[in-house]
Amino acid sequence: MTNVLSVASEAVPLVKTGGLADVVGALPEALAPHGVAMTTLLPGYPAVTATLGKKPKVLHKWESLLGEPARLLAGKIGAHPLLVLDAPGLYAREGGLYGDATGRDWADNWKRFAAFGRAAADVAGGVVKGLGFDLIHAHDWQAGMTLAYQRFSPAGPPLPSVITIHNMAFQGHYGADLFPALGLPPQAMAIDGIEYHGGISFLKAGLASASRITTVSPTYAREIREPGFGMGLEGLIRARESEVSGIVNGIDAAVWNPASDPALKAAYSGKALAKRAANSRALEAEFGLEKNGDSPLFIVISRLTWQKGMDVLLEAADHLVGIGGRLALLGSGDAALESGFHAAAARHPGRIAVRIGYDEALSHRMLAGGDAILVPSRFEPCGLTQLYGLAYGCVPVVSRTGGLADTVIDANLAARQAGVATGVQFDGVRYQTLADALTRTVHLFRDPAAWRSLQRAGMGADFSWRGSGGAYADLYKSLTVTA
Ligand code: ADP
Ligand code: GLC
Repeated sequence: MTNVLSVASEAVPLVKTGGLADVVGALPEALAPHGVAMTTLLPGYPAVTATLGKKPKVLHKWESLLGEPARLLAGKIGAHPLLVLDAPGLYAREGGLYGDATGRDWADNWKRFAAFGRAAADVAGGVVKGLGFDLIHAHDWQAGMTLAYQRFSPAGPPLPSVITIHNMAFQGHYGADLFPALGLPPQAMAIDGIEYHGGISFLKAGLASASRITTVSPTYAREIREPGFGMGLEGLIRARESEVSGIVNGIDAAVWNPASDPALKAAYSGKALAKRAANSRALEAEFGLEKNGDSPLFIVISRLTWQKGMDVLLEAADHLVGIGGRLALLGSGDAALESGFHAAAARHPGRIAVRIGYDEALSHRMLAGGDAILVPSRFEPCGLTQLYGLAYGCVPVVSRTGGLADTVIDANLAARQAGVATGVQFDGVRYQTLADALTRTVHLFRDPAAWRSLQRAGMGADFSWRGSGGAYADLYKSLTVTA
């Protein structure tokens, strides 16, 4: 049995801002069949400590963790062990995980996630008697400092470690003036340590200190060697190229299955696709869209940001309606995009409808009732919504980047003849490329046999955790088993 400490800033079902939480929440179950026992460490946000009951077990106390009193509490996430860093001065506050209710980052995020890393390194180093680990798996910049603290600790040699990059765009950069407060020895402030262009980078700290680096798709693992995707860390990625790999995310087949999804009006499967229509009619009614079986109902479930190409979709909204399409969008994010989509809906009543907000159950109903899901991302480390689309027979229309390139098979002539096409891909996120992809999708939709073939091929594809769980287990074993 390999004991792994998974260190992350969010995990379903407790706290989520994006796909990171889905993945961290799924990993313990995905790894269990492979002889890996995974314990997850999370910050003690209110939503996390609330699940621990009135008298949680206290495993350790820090009088001062970067100046804050803190405790390590024991709990459960699903059937798996959970550790919670309870430090009220850092995490017990109203608002988001990383910022206040208006979306502004907390000014002390450096301290919140340095303390988190310090505590994680202590736990990995054996601060709790009887709790030992063989390997650390850190996720994203919020967990990056864990690996720097254990690498520069005088206590002993570091455990083997893996860091997974879920998104290079978020790196945790701070000024060098904070360095003394981190409590690291002077040699840590070096080019192969946590130093980055004269300041400090928490993600770089992790990337420079980990035994292995993974990201969430093979294509993104290649893309981040280039400046446009590496976002300043491409040099480090290239220098460590042989230790960087891509393992595509899975989806939880128990949650994302149209045959058993309690959120749906009507259950269906690839064999009984006709039953899907009841979900489409219900979705049209819910969004106040025209009923029109000849016109594909496009859906979007997304953060409304530049990464996701939502500005380009907004530009193409009139074209989408002009070629006979309809659009139902669920998302939140940039204020200008939110109001832009509201304006598009006002221009096209019955054809475009928008829900600003976050609504898990609605996202399930949209996948079951929509014909095609749009994911026009400028970059996408993996992407989960196209995988949900595949599972629900909601055909993905995606840009050819990152995990979108690896998980969707474009409906070109050869793929269609072989019956393996699952969606539509386009190159480069611009008005014209997206508009052409939308037109191509409408033509495919108007050929019912071709469309059913796309739906069935997607629904038959296996994006459960089976394969990727095994890939992580193999990676852990390569680092922990000494010959
Ligand atoms: P990212 O993590 O970059 O936002 P992913 O595709 O990996 O992108 O994951 C996004 C996750 O968040 C998915 O589980 C998706 O269904 C969910 N999601 C995004 N926006 C919303 C929303 N407005 N309502 C419900 N779920 C959403
Ligand atoms: C990030 C990426 C997304 C990925 C998710 C989970 O949020 O933007 O592409 O699917 O992490 O790995």
